[in-house]
Amino acid sequence: MRIDILTVLPELLESPFSASILKRAQDKGLVSVHLHNIRDYSTENHKQVDDYAYGGGAGMVMMADPLDRCITALKLERSYDRIIYTTPDGTTLNQRMANQMSLEENLMIIAGHYKGIDERIRELHVTHEVSIGDYVLSGGELASAVIADSIIRLIPGVLNDETSALTDSFQDDLLAPPVYTRPKSFKGMDVPAVLLSGDHAAIEKWRSEQAVKRTRERRPDLMNGDEEKI
Ligand code: 6GU
Repeated sequence: MRIDILTVLPELLESPFSASILKRAQDKGLVSVHLHNIRDYSTENHKQVDDYAYGGGAGMVMMADPLDRCITALKLERSYDRIIYTTPDGTTLNQRMANQMSLEENLMIIAGHYKGIDERIRELHVTHEVSIGDYVLSGGELASAVIADSIIRLIPGVLNDETSALTDSFQDDLLAPPVYTRPKSFKGMDVPAVLLSGDHAAIEKWRSEQAVKRTRERRPDLMNGDEEKI
């Protein structure tokens, strides 16, 4: 998979892709992430990429021209399965969307900044508009990193233990059960005996019951009135 991210703040995105799982995924050749500085595509004297909004009001708008140049140059090189724009008014990201996007070959993510991008770029190029939740961030850079992370970890071979993405919260519309590691007793609190029993069937049953209990208590909206999850 290839992911191109267009941003006015590439430095904000360098570290998330330079450590841990996202770095390893790139080192293994399973994904390549390319950061593009939109400013490099400005033809203005001072490499300007934003301007005042027509009609007035606070906040700057990302100009159409530099974005269009950058997007067009990339589109000439390959065809993109999705051109995603990060915006609080987009569709809220969830696990199902991440799963679908992890099957794509070429993704472009445009990180919105300031008051957003000129509407004509949305009309001309953007295929999917994605928000990461109902709150406002200073810019779309961190949202882009979140979206890319949620996708990349699902690419086969990225995680060491192939099954671990399958047992994540949300993969089956359930939250994950509690987990424990050494020591067996910590400040008087013991690990549930079943987890030490070596009885794999009993352990699976316990985990599945805990997942349902946790989901019912914390996120009943995920259950859809469906209590057949066990
Ligand atoms: Cl995608 N961008 C910004 N700026 N704020 C957000 C967001 C995106 N998703 C939630 N809040």
